[in-house]
Amino acid sequence: MRRRSLIIGAAAIGTAGLAGPALLGRANGGFTPRRGEPFRPLPEIDATRDFSLEAQGGSTAFAGGAPSTTKGFGRDYLGPTLRMRRGTVPIATVRNRTDAPISSHWHGLNVPSPSDGGAHRSAIAAGGEWKATLPVEQPAATLWYHTHVHGRVATDVHAGLAGAIVVNDEESDALALPSEAGVDDLVLILQDKTFDGEGRATYDPGMMGIMHGVVGDRVLANGQLAPVATVPKGLVRLRLINASTGALIGMGWHRPARLIATDQGLLPRPIAVSSLAIGPGERAEIVVDMGQGGEEVLVARAAHASGMSGMMGGGMMGGRGRSSDAGQTLITLRTGPDEGVRDLPERLASDEASPVLDGPTRRFHLAAGMGPMNMMRRAIGSQTMTINGQPYDPERIDFTARRGTIERWRVSGAMMGHPFHAHGVKFRVLDPRRPEETGWKDSVLVKETRDLLVSIDAEARDRVPFMFHCHILEHEDAGMMGQFLTI
Ligand code: C2O
Ligand code: CU
Ligand code: CU
Repeated sequence: MRRRSLIIGAAAIGTAGLAGPALLGRANGGFTPRRGEPFRPLPEIDATRDFSLEAQGGSTAFAGGAPSTTKGFGRDYLGPTLRMRRGTVPIATVRNRTDAPISSHWHGLNVPSPSDGGAHRSAIAAGGEWKATLPVEQPAATLWYHTHVHGRVATDVHAGLAGAIVVNDEESDALALPSEAGVDDLVLILQDKTFDGEGRATYDPGMMGIMHGVVGDRVLANGQLAPVATVPKGLVRLRLINASTGALIGMGWHRPARLIATDQGLLPRPIAVSSLAIGPGERAEIVVDMGQGGEEVLVARAAHASGMSGMMGGGMMGGRGRSSDAGQTLITLRTGPDEGVRDLPERLASDEASPVLDGPTRRFHLAAGMGPMNMMRRAIGSQTMTINGQPYDPERIDFTARRGTIERWRVSGAMMGHPFHAHGVKFRVLDPRRPEETGWKDSVLVKETRDLLVSIDAEARDRVPFMFHCHILEHEDAGMMGQFLTI
């Protein structure tokens, strides 16, 4: 099978001399990972009514390797997909059966701050419990949830404390999109892993990993390496969630495919795409046309989200790669006897007029910290990451925004790429350069200054702030996060 090669090469790495493990393919001792198992969809929970999640420790043998220490919600690794519906107000009960603090932040779900799970005081101590009322007031979308305890987000998300959220509404019901979960509508939580000689997943950021974000050798889908999904002859929808700590994941395929949704929901109309790249925290939904039957191999490649220079122009992926740049198989779609959905609707959502700016302009400068304090921390082997020169401080509120207004946020990343994300809001990228940057977003890769039109949606109540941060989780843990309130 001919594979599309993905050019995420040395150009994608911002720092000369940084040997990207994903690029070189590390020697893996005696471990030969097993691929090609049947695709196992994640379990689902009806979250249109009250539901509960239980964080636990676990053990997972990835790709037939030795058992790795992992964490999950109600399972050994990752959590169930929460099926939500606009107009419902489920109450979530989250219990912590692990031996360290965890939390559950609903990434992309714009609910009042006490329910958001991102703030310092929303952490759940070992053995503890937290309840969150979740008014679902937004359109159909693929969102996700993950632990958000500052200082241990990267380790615990990498271990598996993450899951998918699928929001539906009346408009999406009426669309005749592929929507049979696990059949023609597949949730793929993407996470990169590095394996040791016995096939144990390892995670050890070290100074370089904190500086540049950790990128593993292989991209797994729901913890499976190159699974094979049997799908109907017809359109197949993939809900892609990048749950990596520091990896930008590029994907390629051959058949006609269309992008139908980005972070916050459906695009007005499908956009033909032959490749895709999503940063940590971002989501995308694509529909692959399997109407001709047979088999389609989707390939993926992980690169440093922090070193995305040269990736954002045209031709990021395509025929001009060296053979070593060919991606690895992410998933194989193989048609079975059933017939699926034939045609994609031309209209998915109504065109919205572009939001009218009526709030202030704010600046966010994301950078590795400087100054004597940081020199000292560096000397003792830690690193500070800052926004506007300041590392995260749970006691500091950076600003207060007015609900219902549209603000302009000018975000820049100085020397590095950073996936910028904020809670309680949604935004439009003012000058989208790729289809993945269109539609309403909540996370976007930023290097040089990008302007976002930010809709201040949710309420920050009871003096619990919303967070804004870099979604390279190593950066967030090192301080690249701030807080805001809304009135
Ligand atoms: Cu994915 Cu602050 O979140
Ligand atoms: Cu979030
Ligand atoms: Cu960053």
